[in-house]
Amino acid sequence: MNETTSVIEFRKVSKRFGDVLAVADNDLAVRPGEFLSILGPSGCGKTTSLRMMAGFEQPTSGEVFIRGENVTGVPAYRRPVNMVFQHYALFPHLSVADNVSYGLRQRSPKPPRSEIDRAVDEALAMVRLQGYGGRRTYELSGGQQQRVALARALINRPAVLLLDEPLAALDRKLRRDMQIELQTLQRDVGITFLLVTHDQEEALSMSDRVCVMREGRIVQAGSPRELYDRPVNRYVADFVGKTNFFPGRSPAEVLSVRPELIEIAGSTAQLPEDLSARLAVKVLNRIFLGEHTEYVVASDRLGEFMVMSPRKSERGAGVYEIGDMIAAGWRSEAERVLPNE
Ligand SMILES: Nc1ncnc2c1ncn2[C@@H]1O[C@H](COP(=O)(O)OP(=O)(O)OP(=O)(O)O)[C@@H](O)[C@H]1O
Ligand SMILES: [Mg+2]
Repeated sequence: MNETTSVIEFRKVSKRFGDVLAVADNDLAVRPGEFLSILGPSGCGKTTSLRMMAGFEQPTSGEVFIRGENVTGVPAYRRPVNMVFQHYALFPHLSVADNVSYGLRQRSPKPPRSEIDRAVDEALAMVRLQGYGGRRTYELSGGQQQRVALARALINRPAVLLLDEPLAALDRKLRRDMQIELQTLQRDVGITFLLVTHDQEEALSMSDRVCVMREGRIVQAGSPRELYDRPVNRYVADFVGKTNFFPGRSPAEVLSVRPELIEIAGSTAQLPEDLSARLAVKVLNRIFLGEHTEYVVASDRLGEFMVMSPRKSERGAGVYEIGDMIAAGWRSEAERVLPNE
């Protein structure tokens, strides 16, 4: 394998379950060492895609390559990938160490005890659970159980770790901590991570690249920045970050204007001169978010839209109150014309 060979590649992969086209004719190349997220709503084919990479499902048509080798039809246990499942199942009757070493102990020939112990210690250290080997899984918190599931996958030193919503069961705070841990872990071990999530913030904050899916199809794959700044259509713009949609020149297109690109002032005369859109608006709502204030405003012509105003731009004019009549505007570069799909 040379450096440009994809770790995993889909070539025109489709998967049909009866009438349902779960994955529709997708091409995807996962690059070595990257952190790639698959993002999309429930039922769009994320888990099915992962299962075909792991070998738990075979495509109805198309081919799967791992490190340049066609593995279509090859079963899961013969692929150099490991999957952490959406509903990760630890064995409750086994200790943490036995859960982690489960994959190694199934190998034949079985590695010697000392080697297994060392691998378990290493894997537990990777997920910061040193010394927890003797515990039962029910003696662990949700986050710790999640880390055991990760250690169990990492112990095999897979070329790719497939993570199917690994943080979904965790509360918000723990989820945030684990996101940072996963990123650090990925950098440290240098293994390619492929994360499935329906949480756009999670995908954007953690990944080198994000692949947005809709109804079985990959709509766009790119860096978080690319998806945010150059979405290919309304669906991606809406899914990735917050935005406002306004009518375009025809029903087939929309204008997207990101809320942070909209400026507000006490009156239209006070808006910067170079703004192309200038509207009188009424403040409907206001939320303080520390460095930013999020306003919902309404204009007679365009209806309601959102404005994200950084604290430093609230020059002199101060903060606007609900019910105030003010002005909003933006530069023509802020308008992005997108297919209305
Ligand atoms: N074994 C199966 N038999 C029949 N239909 C299936 C099977 N597995 C998945 N599907 C269908 O395929 C589609 C995609 O399912 P998939 O599990 O890949 O979605 P997902 O994106 O992972 O959703 P979620 O975010 O809810 O986990 C859904 O319509 C689902 O009902
Ligand atoms: Mg799923």
